[in-house]
Amino acid sequence: MNTYKPLLFALLLFSSLAEAQQQKGIPQLGKSSVKEVIGAMTLQEKAQLVVGATELKKVSSAEDETTIGFTENKVPGAAGIMAAIPRLGIPALIVSDGPAGVRINPVRKGDKNKTYYATAFPVGTSLASTWDTKLVEEVGRAFGNEVKEYGIDILLAPGMNIHRNPLNGRNFEYYSEDPLISGKIAGAIVRGIQSNGVGTSIKHFSGNNQEANRNGVNVIVSERALRELYLKGFKIAIDESEPWTVMSSYNKLNGVFTAESKDLLSVILRDEWKYKGFVMSDWGGGRDRPGMIGAGNDLIMPGRPGQSDMIVEAVEKGTLDTKTLDNSVERILNIIIKSPTFNRYAYSDKPDLKAHAELDRRAGAEGMVLLKNERQALPFGTKVRNVAVFGNTSFKTVAGGMGSGDVNKAYMISVIKGISNAGYTPDADLKRDYLRYFSKDSAAQMAAGAKWPKAASEMRLTDSVIAKKALDCDIALLTIGRNSGETADRNLETNYHLTAAEIEQVNKIATAFRARGKRLVIVLNIAGVVDMKSWKESADAILLAWQPGQEAGNSVADILSGKVNPSGKLATTFPINYTDVPSAKNFPGTPVEKPLNVTYQEGIYVGYRYHDTFKVPVNYEFGYGLSYTDFAVTSFKLSKPSANGSFEVTCEVKNTGKVPGKEVLQVYVSAPVKTIDKPAAELKAFEKSKLLAPGESQKIKFAIKGSELASFYTDRSEWITDAGSYEVRLGFSSRNIQKRGDFVLNNSTLVEKTHKVLVPAAEIKEFKP
Ligand code: BGC
Repeated sequence: MNTYKPLLFALLLFSSLAEAQQQKGIPQLGKSSVKEVIGAMTLQEKAQLVVGATELKKVSSAEDETTIGFTENKVPGAAGIMAAIPRLGIPALIVSDGPAGVRINPVRKGDKNKTYYATAFPVGTSLASTWDTKLVEEVGRAFGNEVKEYGIDILLAPGMNIHRNPLNGRNFEYYSEDPLISGKIAGAIVRGIQSNGVGTSIKHFSGNNQEANRNGVNVIVSERALRELYLKGFKIAIDESEPWTVMSSYNKLNGVFTAESKDLLSVILRDEWKYKGFVMSDWGGGRDRPGMIGAGNDLIMPGRPGQSDMIVEAVEKGTLDTKTLDNSVERILNIIIKSPTFNRYAYSDKPDLKAHAELDRRAGAEGMVLLKNERQALPFGTKVRNVAVFGNTSFKTVAGGMGSGDVNKAYMISVIKGISNAGYTPDADLKRDYLRYFSKDSAAQMAAGAKWPKAASEMRLTDSVIAKKALDCDIALLTIGRNSGETADRNLETNYHLTAAEIEQVNKIATAFRARGKRLVIVLNIAGVVDMKSWKESADAILLAWQPGQEAGNSVADILSGKVNPSGKLATTFPINYTDVPSAKNFPGTPVEKPLNVTYQEGIYVGYRYHDTFKVPVNYEFGYGLSYTDFAVTSFKLSKPSANGSFEVTCEVKNTGKVPGKEVLQVYVSAPVKTIDKPAAELKAFEKSKLLAPGESQKIKFAIKGSELASFYTDRSEWITDAGSYEVRLGFSSRNIQKRGDFVLNNSTLVEKTHKVLVPAAEIKEFKP
């Protein structure tokens, strides 16, 4: 029998059981206070509640206990389920991945007439590239509606680790190299999702910036880099949106698994940040189960037989304090009473997938970054009719990355489909050739015994085919695609770099089309930063489409056609060489085969903080992105700062070009260097304008608090806003500064005194400018 079918019956049974229990004088959650319920719980029941009750379908590898979990319970395919204690009126909550859409089984056994597809929204990197918190919140509202209507209580998202290195296989799930963008975008999506009355789990707290030996690697990082980069985004997201839960990460931080780190989960998260929700482990994260509860990791997921017994035993032996266990139980119960399951929400299993797909299309386009546009290659407008569509991923377009961040969507709009939908004519011969190639390739793989054929290698085209297409078609459109996902980082040679065959193809297409006065437009359908040095010059236009969700092709076509004017900006730097990445020498750590330690030698100098401070040229800088129109800052006023450094910037941005468009105003601040070094400048605020008609202006006001200018002084464990002179830069990117102003602070301000915790075992020889 399927457990989800008699849901109504189960609910009725549950409520009549609850009433009967209450009549017997047994406290019931929601009717009695949480404290009374805890008072009535046996030790065994408490231990049961802090361990997940997931019936794991997929058994983990014995070695690291990790699994991308999924349950066959109420919502088949959801990543996990919590324990129920019916005697006390405590129901089991359902938790589900993931950051780009609800990840559940799309079809269910014995339920042939219904499907349970979810919307594949743009991946995290794509959402962050919108620099539009209002839009991201709107996506969150739609996303949270799917969570709720599919019977889920807590979404295991957003992922918000820092893009420390482009090779991290899960960067697509994450937002940025910058903690302000990460925190603001995460805050926006959490607000949107949770406005539905469901929860989120911001993850992976913290330092999970690689997949190589993610379950064992020890991240060695300075207190300052930790505070200023790797914790800061989480703090911002918590302050902005009060996520119901936080997910601890797999890795160790300075010698201790984050899931067992009292310093991280109790001292910093609870004492310093006043976080009120509960912490759950990542699936199989941490080792010492009672130690995890002791540290403040309230819920052990996905939960295994015997883990509750370990908790009981630890309390009985006195190695785990009852009060500590009670605190975890209390935090969990406080969330359970807010949940849809507890409140008996009658979910429909019918979210409005059509409306959400339209939102994906819009948000996907808003997150696309126009990197290059020469010789008026874009937009196509009406000057293009026949398009020579090249590249495997023009046909097999990637919606989002692999692993728990993947989504079971009802359909996928490829790039070729998108441009046909937009009224252009893709070359029919090429289309036929690609489709034949794919079917031959998968037939060959199946004949060789493959159950699930892998993506075909890039189809090679002969010179004569390319030459013919340069004659027949108005323009060449080539999609370059990349994918990656959980458990593995990207390969430098073939995933970060284009293969020799790919580069050759780019060059051949460019030469043939240019010879006929025609253009080559390249669409990047990628999960993370790729090399561009080797091929960039061959492209007339480059559209960075990221992985924009299931409507990918339509979003791409909206930009290519000119229906939508691109307004995305890079939230992560595109370096010239991989070796220009500050963490290149320390990724993924040592030994390379299975790193036990990774030292963050670059310290606070990640992304633009490094490139701008050490004056290293880049391919495309942080904050960069072109438009089909032009903008100017027509007024700029910097207020006099308050004594502690709070100030305002009032400015006006004007569309000085010919078509409507949006611009992102970015405020960077350069702080005075006293006894510690500082980045050349840091992003302190940003805002995307509304759609401005040609000639139209918009006034934008930024209020920046003095505390936001503070740096972390390790020797004193203090956040301090230094006295001295500050430069405020207003720009369209980190290197395209439009206006500058400055002010002097006469006195320094102690913003916060923190605890001396998470100290690396030995001093790290960090980069110094
Ligand atoms: C991932 C998490 C995910 C969990 C449940 C883990 O492998 O790291 O991000 O939420 O699985 O599927």
